[in-house]
Amino acid sequence: MLRATRHAVLGFAAFFLTFCAAVAQQPSDLRTPLPPPTPHINGPEVYGARPGHPFLYRVPCTGTRPIVFHARHLPASLQLDPKTGIISGTAPEKRGTYTVALDATNSLGRDRRTLRIVIGDTIGLTPQMGWNDWYSYYSRITDEDVRTAAEAMISSGMADFGYQFVDIDDCWARKPNAHDPDLAGELRDPQGNILPNARFPDMAALTAFIHSLGLKTGIYSSPGPLTCAGFEGSYGNEARDAKQFASWGFDLLKYDWCSYTRVAKDKSIEELEKPYIKMGGLLKDQPRDVVLNMCQYGMGDVWNWGREVGGNSWRTTGDLGLQAGSALPGFYNIAFANATHSQDAGPGGWNDPDYILIGTVGNARDQNAPGKPTSLTHEEQYSYMSMWSLMAAPLIFSGQMDHLDAFTLNVLCNSEVIDVDQDPLGKQASIVRKTDEEFVLRKPLEDGSVALGLFNLTTSPRSISADWSQLGLQGSQKIRDVWRQRDLGVFAQNYSPVVPPHGVIMVRITAAHPAH
Ligand code: GLA
Repeated sequence: MLRATRHAVLGFAAFFLTFCAAVAQQPSDLRTPLPPPTPHINGPEVYGARPGHPFLYRVPCTGTRPIVFHARHLPASLQLDPKTGIISGTAPEKRGTYTVALDATNSLGRDRRTLRIVIGDTIGLTPQMGWNDWYSYYSRITDEDVRTAAEAMISSGMADFGYQFVDIDDCWARKPNAHDPDLAGELRDPQGNILPNARFPDMAALTAFIHSLGLKTGIYSSPGPLTCAGFEGSYGNEARDAKQFASWGFDLLKYDWCSYTRVAKDKSIEELEKPYIKMGGLLKDQPRDVVLNMCQYGMGDVWNWGREVGGNSWRTTGDLGLQAGSALPGFYNIAFANATHSQDAGPGGWNDPDYILIGTVGNARDQNAPGKPTSLTHEEQYSYMSMWSLMAAPLIFSGQMDHLDAFTLNVLCNSEVIDVDQDPLGKQASIVRKTDEEFVLRKPLEDGSVALGLFNLTTSPRSISADWSQLGLQGSQKIRDVWRQRDLGVFAQNYSPVVPPHGVIMVRITAAHPAH
């Protein structure tokens, strides 16, 4: 725990300095204001866990350390470490909602926030937030890289905004016929248990390290004999692997179709569902909560049935890193497709449009090339994060955690934007308008307000208008710019800001005179 505390202290200092340096360098470009030095508790307001399972939740909180954490009405089987804000223990056996009053105090002030811990069958009540190594490391990933990423999640301040998962993608297992001695060797032990390659000497120690920071961690496999990169998959060993992943201490499994094409009889829904029903059931039987991230690129309209087969999220498209752009970068096309499935997302099951590829990031078409700073403009990056948040998408960054720069953190770490993504109502934004020039998304929020994203798809500044009648609103409305965290005033019947090229204005709209 000492290590975790040191990380938290250093973390906030580093985050503060990075932010300050950034404000000095690029004042006009940065939208997210510096978080105040007083405590500010972030993160979801609702969190699901299964009865009697190990429980781990690090209270995300910005502000100058040391901060002293306190919780009232915490179930008796859970403890909160007052120095780190990490809640751990065993989830209560009794199902139901436990409303916990969180409190964070430092020498400058105090913040409070309510966290509803819902003990029941459903986990993933809000979209996952975290990091996945794929677009940074590809087949080079090592234990050390994952530890570095976990440490950086704390030291960069990302964890203080709710980023929690540190996920290993493909290439941790062994590879049949590998030339590289690191990846070669028996694929399984004599009992049939899957073996990590030489770059992962001790999986249980790795997950324990990540958990000691209050973070969670995910692993990857395929229902086919081989993963997409040709490593050992789970076909024929599903029960053994589910048990192994859980006993190593993993909190999430990305289950990637890949070579299951060779196993499936055809592309019928039944065949598409089969491997996920199997793994979904096996994971539910484990003595720990394991989120199931389905990856099969949207086949068979997975959004219609992903939840039923046990998925907590399902990729709706092919790989974002391989998506060709046109006049607009590739992520727009992914978003336009993902946005059409808004009816099917909700607490426990989310549409997954793939990772957030900003910062210093590798090239999926040339996986051995060193990572490079993203070619997306600043406006495009704010648009990217806004779309993902409005679409209640998992917020999984996949750039290099050891090259986080101030601008990238400014995009990833805006508490009000993240609140839109993590809103407990769990609605994905619906499309109000989609033309060649404009894209408008509307997401209803739990408190009755509405989040609105106005996206300019053209290369010139453009006034984009939203009328209350189109948004289902009546009467005067208060508008708050969530990126700049500034109230803009009361508007009578519409809002028509000028939106920069490829940029976004994202606001939260609340009735000025709520009906009684
Ligand atoms: C597929 C998935 C990616 C990644 C790679 C790993 O392409 O869609 O997200 O997991 O496999 O090989």
